[in-house]
Amino acid sequence: MENDKVKIHDKQFKIFITKDEIRSRVNELGWEISKKYKDLNPVFVPILNGSFMFAADFVRACNFDSDMMFVKIKSYDGMESTGKINLELGFSGNIKDRHVIIIEDIIDTGNTLLEFIKETKTHQPASVTVVSLLLKPDAIKHDIPLDYIGYRIPNAFVVGYGLDYDDMGRTLPDIYQLDED
Ligand code: IMP
Repeated sequence: MENDKVKIHDKQFKIFITKDEIRSRVNELGWEISKKYKDLNPVFVPILNGSFMFAADFVRACNFDSDMMFVKIKSYDGMESTGKINLELGFSGNIKDRHVIIIEDIIDTGNTLLEFIKETKTHQPASVTVVSLLLKPDAIKHDIPLDYIGYRIPNAFVVGYGLDYDDMGRTLPDIYQLDED
């Protein structure tokens, strides 16, 4: 049984999406995307650090041949999006003519993703698709094609299942939301 509340640094968080709910939604997403990618041998590109847990579960829910290249981007400072991306770890191999599936934990303003899609396209992949576990529809500022989204959530800050608040909370198996009460 998960804890209903957790304290991280100075803030209180309350349970938002449980690990069981996440598991069944991730399996659904894997099933959905498997129809399209069955014969395309795509490359999964999880964006570290936040997406590592989602990526590990999601790729196992996908039923097709694939490989993986991890990239690392830093764009957040505490609870604020900085609007700039810093590619700390880039593509480790050739993605030219490959079908790329970017795996993201959460899309907030969309700044990170917009910049990263631009960067990805300079390598001339055959196609680029985004899978994100979470999306904050009221925060996104860009028109980015988003085909595979786990949950559309309100604008409150969330932690757990890979997502951190200043490097803490990442290893929690459930997702918690900032508790303003
Ligand atoms: P964006 O560039 O504003 O879309 O932010 C994307 C990145 O910010 C995500 O990949 C996360 O690492 C981080 N982020 C955005 N919202 C949250 C949140 O509520 N909790 C934890 N990290 C977040």
